[in-house]
Amino acid sequence: MITLGEGDTPLLPAPRLSGRLGVEVFLKWEGANPTGSFKDRGMALAVSRALERGATGVVCASTGNTAASCAAYAARAGMRAVVVVSAGAVARGKLAQARALGAEVVQVAGTFTEAFRKADELAESRDLVVVNSTNPDRIEGQSSAAREVVEQLGRVPDILALPYGGGGNTVAYAVGFGERLPRFVLGEAESRADTFASAIRIVEPVHRLEVGGVLKRSGGTCVPLSERQLEEAWRLIARDEGVFCEPASAAGVAAVAASVTAAGQTVVCVLTGHGLKDPDATGRLAA
Ligand code: F0G
Repeated sequence: MITLGEGDTPLLPAPRLSGRLGVEVFLKWEGANPTGSFKDRGMALAVSRALERGATGVVCASTGNTAASCAAYAARAGMRAVVVVSAGAVARGKLAQARALGAEVVQVAGTFTEAFRKADELAESRDLVVVNSTNPDRIEGQSSAAREVVEQLGRVPDILALPYGGGGNTVAYAVGFGERLPRFVLGEAESRADTFASAIRIVEPVHRLEVGGVLKRSGGTCVPLSERQLEEAWRLIARDEGVFCEPASAAGVAAVAASVTAAGQTVVCVLTGHGLKDPDATGRLAA
């Protein structure tokens, strides 16, 4: 098992946010994972299984966090890592991490969708295992977060709120909760093509159909968010609760703030990544 100590992240009560929103808010602080994002849960399992099957290298397309995580676990496993990113679209901290951890960074001129295509091509031509969320081991590893939430809270929350980029995390939480799903409230950037929340700058979510199924089964909803709503939620998380997350991570809280929720419900908002990942965006927002 290739591990860096991922998982077991805090579930923090958020009293001031709760007062503001009229519901009982808890923050699942996934920025506390080894590389600063929730991706480590699934990457630990995906890289371990790839190694077990005799692979010598892994590849992924990424808006940055998957790349950093892939680089870290591959280094730990003594494997080669190739990460494909859309040129100029990745936050500084994430790129620095991926490079520092020894990954080969391939930049493509185009969107995340083009990067995905390129990663598939490289997997074929260089015999690498794809460790995007299309790899079932990633989803299985990531599903541990849902079981952890239930353990920490002592029950399934009424609502689970999280950012929606490609949808892998949504699918993973649904798998982890199993039969008894909380209501899923997803926040996505209204302007997916050019949101400042670069982690979720994804025009074509690869898990769109499965996410539709999860929303239907859980009676959930997906809220398109303006840049301003994302910014305001990000600021509240920081100033009300002392948690410094990256901009995309605020989407769950923003979606809860923007939707009608019965008073007193228990809401777990997943904060997916650390604020230090994206010093340019967070520095600008804090100014
Ligand atoms: N929050 C953060 C911080 C992310 O990095 C991502 C996705 C999401 C939310 C959305 O999760 O795609 O499972 O719906 N990041 C991927 C990456 C795309 O390459 O790091 P999703």
